[in-house]
Amino acid sequence: MAAADTPPAPDAAERCNQAFTEFYAARNPDKVYPSEFLVRTLMGEYPQLKLDRTGYRGKAILDIGFGDGRSFPLLDDLGFQIHGIEVTEPICALTRERMQRMGIAAELRVGRNAAIPYPDASFDFLLASASCYYVDPGLRFDDNLAEFARVLRPGGVFVLTLPAMDSFVFRDGIDIGGGHVQIQADPYGLRNGYVLRRFKDEAEIREAFSSQFGQFAFGHVDSNYYGTQFALWLVVCRRGDLASIADEPRVTL
Ligand SMILES: C[S@@+](CC[C@H](N)C(=O)[O-])C[C@H]1O[C@@H](n2cnc3c(N)ncnc32)[C@H](O)[C@@H]1O
Repeated sequence: MAAADTPPAPDAAERCNQAFTEFYAARNPDKVYPSEFLVRTLMGEYPQLKLDRTGYRGKAILDIGFGDGRSFPLLDDLGFQIHGIEVTEPICALTRERMQRMGIAAELRVGRNAAIPYPDASFDFLLASASCYYVDPGLRFDDNLAEFARVLRPGGVFVLTLPAMDSFVFRDGIDIGGGHVQIQADPYGLRNGYVLRRFKDEAEIREAFSSQFGQFAFGHVDSNYYGTQFALWLVVCRRGDLASIADEPRVTL
């Protein structure tokens, strides 16, 4: 990989929006099912993570980049008030219709990582499954983080995944500095030209997040699904500065 001299073209985001819009329109299932990551994180018990399942009911959650809405059936079963943002109205409309068919209430709006159309401190939980590290042209991952911190109430819980260095999507990508990579060879053809942020270890994640988030719990997945390498960090943390929220071994509600 080489350092890039020129920033990504401004229309890279528009192309990525269009590619995802076409992707979801082409595979429009009647039902959707949550990822293993989300089931384990919200329902499992692990040494460094304990989320109180009785604390979910009635809480407002924002699913950032909800895609086909696959997380919503679980969030609904757990009693969350569901909100979500996606990058285009056609993606919102498709998922809105699917949720109506499935009998799931969800308020879905067009928005982006660095531009979330909600007031400050609107949510008790944020969820970003494979989405929060999409960085728009001219911005940095820190701009996304500042926006996430703005809409999450102090003490609120952020559940997210981040890509590790050797995730499939970074093959032949151009390193543009600070962990940001311009994608060149996305096998799904969705993100070429667009910038994603990747992370090499937990220390790097802590460093990036710790001015606004604390009480971290980390997991890591490194799986090969029939030729595609999924390498990602799993993170649960809370909104707050390190002075007010001690970095305890367990995240509790
Ligand atoms: C890999 S998909 C993950 C979808 C879903 N969260 C899941 O777990 O299946 C990434 C999603 O992020 C959305 N996305 C792309 N750029 C974004 C941005 N700048 N802000 C928020 N979401 C974005 C895409 O439209 C896409 O639905």
